Formats: sequence, structure tokens, C-alpha cells
Amino acid sequence: MQLDNLVSSDSLEKEGWTALERSILYYKGRPVGTVAAYDATVEALNYDQCFIRDFVSSALIFLIKGRADIVRNFLEETLRLQPKERQLNAYKPGRGLIPASFKVVCEADEEYLEADFGEHAIARVTPVDSCLWWVILLRAYVVATKDFSLAYKPEFQHGLRLIMELCLATRFDMYPTLLVPDGACMIDRRMGIYGHPLEIQALFFTALRAARELLVCQGNEDIVTAIDNRLPLLQAHIRQHYWMDLHRLNKIYRFKSEEYGKAAANPFNIYADSLPYYELDRWLPRKGGYLVGNVGPSQLDTRFFCLANMMAIISDLASEEQSQAIMNLIEERWEDLVGDMPMKICFPALEDEEYKIVTGCDPKNIPWSYHNGGSWPVLLWFLSAAAVKTNRVELAHKAVEIAQARLHLDEWPEYYDGKKGRLIGKQARKYQTWTITGFLLAKELLRNPTFLPLVTFASFSVEPASRACEFELVEANTLYFG
Ligand code: GLC
Repeated sequence: MQLDNLVSSDSLEKEGWTALERSILYYKGRPVGTVAAYDATVEALNYDQCFIRDFVSSALIFLIKGRADIVRNFLEETLRLQPKERQLNAYKPGRGLIPASFKVVCEADEEYLEADFGEHAIARVTPVDSCLWWVILLRAYVVATKDFSLAYKPEFQHGLRLIMELCLATRFDMYPTLLVPDGACMIDRRMGIYGHPLEIQALFFTALRAARELLVCQGNEDIVTAIDNRLPLLQAHIRQHYWMDLHRLNKIYRFKSEEYGKAAANPFNIYADSLPYYELDRWLPRKGGYLVGNVGPSQLDTRFFCLANMMAIISDLASEEQSQAIMNLIEERWEDLVGDMPMKICFPALEDEEYKIVTGCDPKNIPWSYHNGGSWPVLLWFLSAAAVKTNRVELAHKAVEIAQARLHLDEWPEYYDGKKGRLIGKQARKYQTWTITGFLLAKELLRNPTFLPLVTFASFSVEPASRACEFELVEANTLYFG
């Protein structure tokens, strides 16, 4: 260990701030976002762009530090990139979508923003999470600045409405969850998370709650009613069908299959043999549990996904009891989920034949690397927010200490590889912005838990805009919180 290279927590934070400043993206002289990574040693690919999901971590720390202007500029510019017309061309992004990323292009002294809705991205993945993050961020901006006027602007109300229309549209399936293609979120490569992955459901739930606070009811009665109807159904569906603990494992183990009709105890027809019973039986602590990765017809993906579980705690998608059980699991299975770098994006990794079939032999997602069981420092802030929410801050402090010991020496990598997260990710960028902001945010949230409401909700959260249709609220709230 090079002792002289060890830095104190204070100077690490200073170093993080300097790197964050350097990552700010300017457009027509105004700061509008942050690049994904500022690593001059490798080809930029699209890491020199501002990713919507990555920027959320930057935005929250900017809001905490009073730099709301950048967040406001970002919200305005990305709203402009949102397609407003109904598209008949299947290769064009649908109305309401927010891009995965954007870049500033300079041509003949003219600057403009170019959006990527997945049409340039590797494997052409659809960024479903971007529009959900956008709504969540708009609400965080309003919470931080009390500047409701931005959200009430007609163009913002229109943008919100388009996102809600896109998410709440009638579809083929009859679940309250959102049906999406593979790689539609942070894990933006084929990883077997198509269908109804938990990460999308947790963000969807959070975005619905945020939109409910921001939408002016007048003129949006249909959407507001749709949100009020959807929230309790979505919450109950996830709490019931995605939950996994020893008690539930026992139930599933003895499930009958091929049950026809509405009264089925095993409505998704999960075949007991499809679950890794003996591993789960060994792994699940007596008092711990978590929300599984995905549920669908004869499908129960028992992998633990970190961002999804943390967002479920943060947004109240998980019940209080479930939230405590998730934190118990992290504590009891610390070596697996945190190890030498907080924290695993998912656990366990897909291996052997399963890895080949599910990832399509993706060399970047080999077992215990990148999205397939790699460790991502950005998840530190999600863990910290969940820890503050559940009064389990000691876990977050422990995790921050582990990260602190390495981030400077390792130059803030995007992710780590290996079962314990000891190896710097094979193709990880250095000076990855959300690694930096993940650490800074975790520090701030632990230092000052009053920042938590940027991402959490009061149990009865009805903001002024909603009062216009109070009659609907009474009914919805009886359902939802009653
Ligand atoms: C990778 C990650 C994605 C992130 C992007 C930019 O593609 O999987 O979640 O947004 O890099 O950092």
C-alpha cells in the first residue's frame, strides 16, 4: 500500500469536487449537464455525453450545494429534446420519450444539442428509465428550490403529461407493472431483464408519485385519476409478487402449478423447479428478504438488484417491514453484496450456460464483471439514502469507509470486478462522474439527513397543484394509504 497516496476524507471530497467541476458540460455558455466520464486515456465513445440517469446523481449534489441553475438548465434543455409529435415512423422515438443521453455539437460556429434515444447506443437499447428519472429530478428541483413555477410552466406540464401518457397507455398485458424491452435502464445491455424488471417498476412508482405532486389537476383530470388508480395497484403487486424471504420461499416451494382461474394461489404459474432453492435456502437470512428482479408468466428471477431494491425503500414501494428486511439482508450478506467495494449491481452473477444464453455471450458482462455481478460505487448514495430512511446509517457509514480507502488510488473507476469487487473493472472508465457524485452524495446524506426528502415522500404528500381535484384525492388516498 502506498501510504503517501492515502488521502483523508476531506481531501477526497475536495478531489471529487474538482473532478465534478471538470465534468460540467456547457452549451451556449450555460452549464447544462455533466459528461459520463472524463477519462482522457481511452476513446470516449459516448462517455463524453451527458446521460440522463447519470446526471441525476450530479443534479442532487448540485441542488444540495445551491447550484440549482445547472439542474434547471438541464431540465429545460432535455425537455426541448423530448419528441412532442405522434410518430408514425417506427424508427423515430415515440412521443414523450426523454433521450438516454445528449451531446453538444459544434458546426460552423453553430452549437446544438444532439440526442440519443438509443438509436446510436450499443445494441440499440431503449432508455425507458430516462423519462422516469426526468420526472423524479424535476420534483427534486422543486423540493430543493420551492420553485413550483418551473413545473407549472405550460411546456413542463405538457412534457409531464406526455411522459405519463406514454407510461399509462393501455397495453397488451393486464398488470399494473410496466412492460419493457431488455436493457431499458441502468443495465443497458442484454441481461435477461426484459418484461417487468424491478428497477423500472421502482422508478415508475417513484415517477408516478412525483408527477402526482407536480401535475396541475385542471385539464389533467384523466391522468391524475389514472395515477391514483395505478399507484395502489402497483404497490400491492410488487409487495406481494416480488417479495422473497424464507417464509415466501417455503410457500413457493410447495406451490401447485397449472392452476386455472382467478383464485389461483400461484397466479404466475411459477414452477418450483425453476428456482435455485438450495442456494436461496442457504443464502436467505432468517430475518432478511428482498424484492426479486423480475416476475412474469412462469418466471421468477431471484437475482438481487441493488438500485431497484434501494429505490423501492426510498419511494415506499416496499413496506416498512420489507425495507427493514432488505437492510437486514445487506447486513447479513455484507461480504456478497458489499465486499471490498460498495456495491454489487446484482447478485449473484449469471455463470456458465446461463451466462451464455442470457447475455448472448457478452464479453463485457462475463461473470462477476460490469453489469453481471460487478460492483458500482454510484450505488453508494442509493444505499446511504435507504439507510437514512430506515435508520440504519451504521451500514452506510461502513460502506463509505470501504469506498473511501480506494477511490482516490483507483482514480474513481466506473465499476469493479470480482466476487468481492477487488479488481478495477476490466473496461471501466476512470473519473466516472457518477462514481464521484455517488460518493459525494452519500457523504452529504449521512452528514445531513434533512436532504433525504429530495428523493423521498411524506406519507401523505399532496402538493398545492393537486388541490384542484381534491374529490379524487380522498378516494385515492383512502385506497393508497388506508
Ligand atoms: C453504461 C451504463 C449506463 C450508464 C452509461 C454512462 O452504459 O451501463 O447505466 O448510463 O454507461 O455512464
